[in-house]
Amino acid sequence: MKAAILTVSDKGSIGQREDTSGAFLKQAMLDMGADIVAADIVADDYEAIRAKLIIYADIKLVDLVLTTGGTGLSLRDVTPEATAEVINRPAPGITEALRQKSLEITPQAMLSRAVAGQRDKTLIINLPGSLKAVREQMAVLLPVLPHALEMVAGQGHGD
Ligand code: MTE
Repeated sequence: MKAAILTVSDKGSIGQREDTSGAFLKQAMLDMGADIVAADIVADDYEAIRAKLIIYADIKLVDLVLTTGGTGLSLRDVTPEATAEVINRPAPGITEALRQKSLEITPQAMLSRAVAGQRDKTLIINLPGSLKAVREQMAVLLPVLPHALEMVAGQGHGD
């Protein structure tokens, strides 16, 4: 399984914020046995995010992209828009579950505008920016990921 991690943060992109959520996601992917083919930090910039997602999916042919950050309501938060632009099949159940489970922890979970979906055989999932939020959401996501990735790769239901 090939994975890419994209940290979206203005401060992170200029070295003013330690990328703790990206580091956590890298370790989580390694623990899953994934091959991490890319781990980048970009500013909250629509074009920069879009370009990275397209490279991961179309050139590096990764199975899974996890983004962290830029999903909130600040006007700089454009990760969901850039992701929605590149996916061709939305997977709203994933973000519905992440928000629902997160709402049991904090009402602020409703402020996440994260999206998830497929660009061909690549599954892209937006996660929030804080380490706490990413830990909580990965606890929900991890048990389902292997089966999700099997289906995205075409080995699951319907074969
Ligand atoms: N989800 C979980 N599980 N735990 C959290 O602490 N924080 C929320 C939300 N989702 C949170 C969470 C907050 S405060 C915001 S603003 C949104 O995610 C968006 O975060 P982002 O702008 O860092 O992407």
